[in-house]
Amino acid sequence: MIKLPPLPYAYEALEPTVSATTMRTHHDKHHAKYVDVTNQLAVEKGLAGASLEEIIAQAEAQGERKLLNNAGQAWNHAFFWTCMSPQGGQPAGELARLAQEAFGGLDGLRARFVQVGADHFASGWVWLVVEDGRLAVVDTHDGETLAHKPQAPLLVCDLWEHAYYLDYKQDRKGFLERWFDNVANWSFVEAQLAAAQGRQAPWRFGLAA
Ligand SMILES: [Fe+2]
Repeated sequence: MIKLPPLPYAYEALEPTVSATTMRTHHDKHHAKYVDVTNQLAVEKGLAGASLEEIIAQAEAQGERKLLNNAGQAWNHAFFWTCMSPQGGQPAGELARLAQEAFGGLDGLRARFVQVGADHFASGWVWLVVEDGRLAVVDTHDGETLAHKPQAPLLVCDLWEHAYYLDYKQDRKGFLERWFDNVANWSFVEAQLAAAQGRQAPWRFGLAA
């Protein structure tokens, strides 16, 4: 059985960029439901003792779409909470060098992340990843996850309306700009980059970031 991880900060810690009301609903209702459904279905499929990463891999291998979607959402949200911080710092060092190489600099990285997220049709996620040693921005649909993909995720933002509608109404682009500038957790991104380069272990569901 997997457990709903607690937020790594108080509900109001990300205000005014993300309200406490949004965080409460998002974590306590939406994320909790994905975890509950994942546990129900994992038991039915004989995966009660598996880690979330194992459940995702097994669900994909067996074509279990409902389990894969819910397990993907359980993983993505836990990763998303760690991608935010009231003291996230600024991109620097190796990360800044790779951003220069891939996007012409940090402003280019920001513009690409916001554009891909704003242009994404319907629900999903926008990710900063490293693949073959280069940074890239990609989007995924609905409950799709990068937990078990060759692209190493460094940062993600939730594009489902429940992530921003209470605070920003339909203005997803405005949400993404403020999110990137104010709450993106760059110290976590640097740790994930170090993991992708084999210098430390990557984040895993259920482990502290
Ligand atoms: Fe969400």
